[in-house]
Parts: sequence; structure tokens; C-alpha cells
Amino acid sequence: MDTYGIIGWPVSHSLSPAMHNAVLKSLGIKAVYGLLPLAPQNLSEGIKGIRALNIKGVSVTVPHKEAVIPLLDDIDPVASKIGAVNTIVNKDSLLLGFNTDWIGVKKALKEKIDISGKKAVVVGAGGAAKAVVYALIREGASVVIYNRTFEKAQKLAQTLGGVAFPWEELKNASGDILIQTTSVGLKEDKSPVPEEILSQFEVVMDIVYQPLKTRLLKEAEKAGCKIIDGLSMLVYQGIEQFYLWFGTRPQASLMREAAEKELL
Ligand code: ATR
Repeated sequence: MDTYGIIGWPVSHSLSPAMHNAVLKSLGIKAVYGLLPLAPQNLSEGIKGIRALNIKGVSVTVPHKEAVIPLLDDIDPVASKIGAVNTIVNKDSLLLGFNTDWIGVKKALKEKIDISGKKAVVVGAGGAAKAVVYALIREGASVVIYNRTFEKAQKLAQTLGGVAFPWEELKNASGDILIQTTSVGLKEDKSPVPEEILSQFEVVMDIVYQPLKTRLLKEAEKAGCKIIDGLSMLVYQGIEQFYLWFGTRPQASLMREAAEKELL
């Protein structure tokens, strides 16, 4: 029986075990996926542990997505460009790093809108924004990035594309797609986006999924926008992870239901 798991810190509230184990069970695959809590100062020992225990596949979450890169044997060019790895594949004892977050963003968006040629506003420039900006640029959108710390928005735009704007100007932002990537709204009834600008956007997406319908998404719905919640991206990145490990793409509904049950 092969072992899989997720490294992160903290990781106890991760929805990934529920999502992956539900699919393993439904497909009758004899493997287990568990939590692998790993403190930042132990990262390199932890990666040695993955090798020693012959763990076949690993999801990587905060705060390890960038720091894990130099510890792996090879990095997929897209993950390298994004500068973050969220998936490790143990192939014949070689640890290979991939990024499926950007595919999660792309597929979640494509359920509601054709991305090519659209203008996208990205709110935030932290770790989560990287895959978002990469996906948007790769799919042919023009991107503007607003971040509280302007220098981080500038750096993101330099590495992955798009144009950086000061945070204070978010109240004048316009476009077709708005994606919220900051931690504002996580377990709190707050939105970083002024409500007045929402009505012009066709689609508003939030990567926060706790609560499932954030204040931003409620306001966007009221303003007549199509909304995409954070679970959508989580599920689609998970489907691609599963594909890298097992060579088959599970049904989105199966993963989503398993994740929603955990959130209750
Ligand atoms: P993650 O990996 O989840 O993106 P991160 O790298 O710490 O986490 O980034 C958090 C993002 O949320 C950043 O864009 C951060 O803005 P700064 O770059 O200015 O720190 C943003 N953020 C967090 N709290 C915020 C707040 N109260 N108002 C506005 N932006 C906030």
C-alpha cells in the first residue's frame, strides 16, 4: 500500500486528505493520503524523510511552496517559472516538483468565462497570487495587480507579467475578471475590495474558502457578477495532482463533496 500526504505548517485543517481519500476509495486504489505536519525549520529533514519512507506523492502547502524547490531533484519548467511547487512526484526515488495551482485557477475560471483577451484585476501579490497571474497571462488576459505593499506587486509583475498599481487606486480599478488572493476575508466578515467597483466585472473569484461565500462573493453576487469560490480552485488543483500521481483525473464533484463535508 503506497503512502501519500501533505506537508505544511500548520496543516491540520487541510481539506486535501478528505478530497484524495474519497477518490482513492471510490476508484478502489489501495493507497493512503495523510497529514504530514512539517515545521519550516525541519523542511530539509522532512524531505529526507519522504525519500527514506518512499512516500510516493506529496502535496506542498504554506509555508513550503518556495523553500522546497532547491531540495528536490528536478523542477518542472512551469513550476520553476511560477517559483512555487505544490506537488511532488516520487518517480523511481527521484523527487520531481510540479505546480498544479495555476491549472486550478484556469479551470475554475473557464467554467464561467473565456479568459483570452479579457482584462483581469488581481488583488494581492503574495504566494497565492503567483499561480493566479501565471494562469491569466498564459491564457491571454491582460493583468493589473494591486497590493498593499506596492514593491511586491511590482516584483510579481516583473517576473510573471502584468502591471502593478498602488493599493490606494483599487477604488478606481476596472475590468472583466477580479481575483482576490489576499488572506482578508479568511474566517472574518471583511472584503479588501470596495463594493462600488464590483458591478462592472463579469466574474469575481475569491481564493479564500473559509467561509465558502466570503463577504466579497456575497457583494459580487448582489452586484450581478458570476462568482467563483475558493473551493473550485482547490478542487481543480487537486484533480491535477491526482492525475500526476495516478494517471487519471477524478470527477470534480466527488472531490468537491468530500471537501465541503470537511468544511461543515
Ligand atoms: P499567501 O501565500 O497566502 O498569498 P502571503 O504570501 O503572506 O500569503 O500573502 C498574503 C497577501 O495578503 C499579500 O498580498 C498581503 O499583502 P502584503 O504584501 O502587503 O503583505 C495580503 N494581505 C494580508 N493582510 C492584508 C490586509 N489586511 N490588507 C491588505 N492586504 C493584506
